[in-house]
Amino acid sequence: MKTLIAAELAISLNGTGVAVKSDPRARLSKVLREEFRLTGTKVGCDAGDCGACTVLLNGVPVCACLTAVGQAANSEVVTIEGLQGISKTFQKLQKSFLEYGAAQCGICTPGMLVSAVALLDEVPQPTESQVLDALGGVLCRCTGYRKIVRAVMEANRQPAHSAETAAGGPVGKRVQRVDGLKKVQGRDIFGADEWPEDSLLLRVVRSPFHRAEFSFGDLKKYQSENPGVVGIFTARDVPGVNRFGVIAPFADQPVFAEIEARHRGEAVAAVVGDVDAIESLDLKKFPVVWKELPALLDPSKALEPSATKVHASRPDNVLVRGRVVHGNVEEALCTADVVVEAEYQTGFIEHAYIEPEAGFARRVGDRIEVQACTQAPYTDRKDIAAILGIAEAAVRVIPTAVGGGFGSKLDLSLQPFLIVAAWHLKHPVKMVYHRIESIQSTTKRHPSVIRCRAGATKDGKLVAMDVTGTFNTGAYASWGPTVAARVPIHASGPYKVPHYRALTQAVHTHIVPAGAFRGFGVPQGTIAQEQIYDALAEKVGMDKLEFRILNALEKNDETVTGQVLGEEVGIKDCLEALRPRWMAAHQEASVFNKSARSPVRRGVGVAGMWYGCGNTSLPNPSTMRVGLKRDGRIALHQGAVDIGQGSATVVTQMCAEALGAPLEQFDFVSGDTDTTPDAGKTSASRQTFVSGKAAMLAGQKLRQAILKLAGLCECAKIRFADGAVQFQDGEEQNVFNLSALPLDSHGYVVSVDATYDPPTRPLNEDGQGTPYAVYGFGAHLAEVEVDTELGTVKVTHITAAHDVGRAINPTLVEGQIEGGAAQGLGMALMEEFFPGKGENLHDYLIPTIGDMPPVESILIEDASAEGPYGAKGVGEQALIPTAPAILNAIYDAVGVRIYKLPATPDKVRAAILAKAPAGKEPPHG
Ligand code: FES
Ligand code: FES
Repeated sequence: MKTLIAAELAISLNGTGVAVKSDPRARLSKVLREEFRLTGTKVGCDAGDCGACTVLLNGVPVCACLTAVGQAANSEVVTIEGLQGISKTFQKLQKSFLEYGAAQCGICTPGMLVSAVALLDEVPQPTESQVLDALGGVLCRCTGYRKIVRAVMEANRQPAHSAETAAGGPVGKRVQRVDGLKKVQGRDIFGADEWPEDSLLLRVVRSPFHRAEFSFGDLKKYQSENPGVVGIFTARDVPGVNRFGVIAPFADQPVFAEIEARHRGEAVAAVVGDVDAIESLDLKKFPVVWKELPALLDPSKALEPSATKVHASRPDNVLVRGRVVHGNVEEALCTADVVVEAEYQTGFIEHAYIEPEAGFARRVGDRIEVQACTQAPYTDRKDIAAILGIAEAAVRVIPTAVGGGFGSKLDLSLQPFLIVAAWHLKHPVKMVYHRIESIQSTTKRHPSVIRCRAGATKDGKLVAMDVTGTFNTGAYASWGPTVAARVPIHASGPYKVPHYRALTQAVHTHIVPAGAFRGFGVPQGTIAQEQIYDALAEKVGMDKLEFRILNALEKNDETVTGQVLGEEVGIKDCLEALRPRWMAAHQEASVFNKSARSPVRRGVGVAGMWYGCGNTSLPNPSTMRVGLKRDGRIALHQGAVDIGQGSATVVTQMCAEALGAPLEQFDFVSGDTDTTPDAGKTSASRQTFVSGKAAMLAGQKLRQAILKLAGLCECAKIRFADGAVQFQDGEEQNVFNLSALPLDSHGYVVSVDATYDPPTRPLNEDGQGTPYAVYGFGAHLAEVEVDTELGTVKVTHITAAHDVGRAINPTLVEGQIEGGAAQGLGMALMEEFFPGKGENLHDYLIPTIGDMPPVESILIEDASAEGPYGAKGVGEQALIPTAPAILNAIYDAVGVRIYKLPATPDKVRAAILAKAPAGKEPPHG
């Protein structure tokens, strides 16, 4: 875009008249964020699809990314920052969002709040459908929307439950997020919100083909012909190893491809320079010559002996195989009274977090600093050190707030480009992925083809199950090994399966790598397992819920890996908790189906799940540091990145409980590898369990250390006050003045570190062993309406029972369940990414506020002996049973199975027609 000189473009911005310097054609969102540094207005897509950029223009919510700043001339623009001081409605909404836990990662929160202010200013007490209409243009990937709807509806009313601050420790209470205020004020700093003023801008040149050889033209000439370009970087400029990967033995992904690009969107070069110069570059003119090569897109083709090798080191294109064998499947299946066999397929699924990847890097002497969104600062640090060929101690990773991750931000994305450029240029370099670039180049959920054979006795007891699974892992390893290992362990479901065989393989193709996505393959396996169990139940003539209850694992049972479970096996409790709604929903559906004169049919489905918390049979430690300051406050150094799920809050709750201190006493030192110990990655539902336990142990240790310092016994009560600690030891009261005490090496009066690593044992060659110390269990019940003429499916209600061991913060647990259910609904009904197509949030559909039904969460607290205060994880668990429950409900409604997800209207309608007798439409009315 050529810059037009603005003829004194004036707007009223948050109540103050300002003159805009930018080109009148510039996006209002860009002007707000860059010229006025009002970064509370977020940008998720720059295309009008996500609503994160919503502001008020003359009181009306608009997408600032679709509004040229010239359109706002002589008008009033109000952003979230402007609402802060002037709108009482806004203040009530903020309070309500905090009370109801309506903000998780917080990236959508400004757009939601601005839209809600406009609604409530017109309709102070809106109905649900008015809220759905008003917020319909803003996407949220975390919350499942229901808490947002509730928060808006209740904002002008008295909250039904307020955050609990009553007596006793904070564990088990609905306390507000410790990082909540920043989110509802739009002050949270995400990857794109902060950068050094003089930063250069980086853009990446990427392969337009699934597979291509390439060679560069005259890069020096290109640079000299484009003033403002200060550097061009390719594989030759990587100072250390041109490889990275989250699982070190499999690391295979280059920063820049060297000769051949192995997937569309793979980086081959980076161009860096002045912001204006780089923004206006036409990268199509970059001197690179492509030679497109035949690409492998389908794992079945990649497995053919004559197939091209994606990596020379993996001659059969198999990255890794997984195997769990228990008993004798073949013999057992021969003894079964009924056997069912089927194949189930799922496609690529995009994480679709609302925050595209963003950040900056700068060289500080011989160190490199990277500030970016990430779920894994310490893993990033290791790979960054290797890429630059420097010591890990010379790398500082500062995670920003993360606007949703769901697994994809466990992998490096833009960090390698930033560090290589900043290292060479000795100048800060920044970058924000465009939505298309984000979808093109970051990891996806593994597509799967899962074949199952399962047998049962005529009275419904499971006898055996045989599973084979092929996962398309794309061009590079990423988390493929984890998926291939986790699925065979979990594909039995939380049931007693005496004879079992599960064999999996992760297969390379020329597609963007598949990686971690909430569940590491277990959701795909559960879609197969829970549908085949439904089919078995039907074949033996049993109620499908009773079939599951009959076969559910119980305490001290042996799993398919030979692990003997402890006392805390909550799957039966979860299934039993669904029974009342199961019976009522069937009754209601039956009455509706008999009476309705419409093409709509109602159905009810159920599915169970289990999930091992933490790494599979691998060390998984987390370390927390807690220190007492001279002013009497407590510093918690907690490096567990909170990606919206609330780990910062629950970890603090547990530390506070153990220490006997109120939450308000805590200061936070978060996620900076220079100042926080390694708390591991935010993945595999491990933060509440693993980091929470480390925090609990740290709290206990600090309490003991303080008592020792004061020379008091362990039974003394501690109270923290300004500049002092007060003790009550029997009748005796003491005040311990902290202000003159010496400081330890960390700068505290006293500080402790505590580490927790869950006890697991390696699996043998048959996958037998103890892969996890703790399992979470759950079951979902879905109610649907299927339009037999249109093939559309509407989910009308979800009941979700989860055994979380102990709900450290019930509001946050519900938030995980509702958000997981929304992603499961998307997986069942609408989401599929086709590489090379629809690389935006317009074509790639995720559930909107109007798609989400009410979700009733039932929390089962079957306390874990190993977990802190009995807690287990719930992050991944919440998504796993939703899709199969919906698929089973579709079958219940119209008698058709959808074997290839998603169950889009065309597939549902085709299946209904295929089932109907020839020449006859399916009956209705
Ligand atoms: S950034 Fe404007 S709608 Fe997404
Ligand atoms: S809280 Fe809505 S996108 Fe994360």
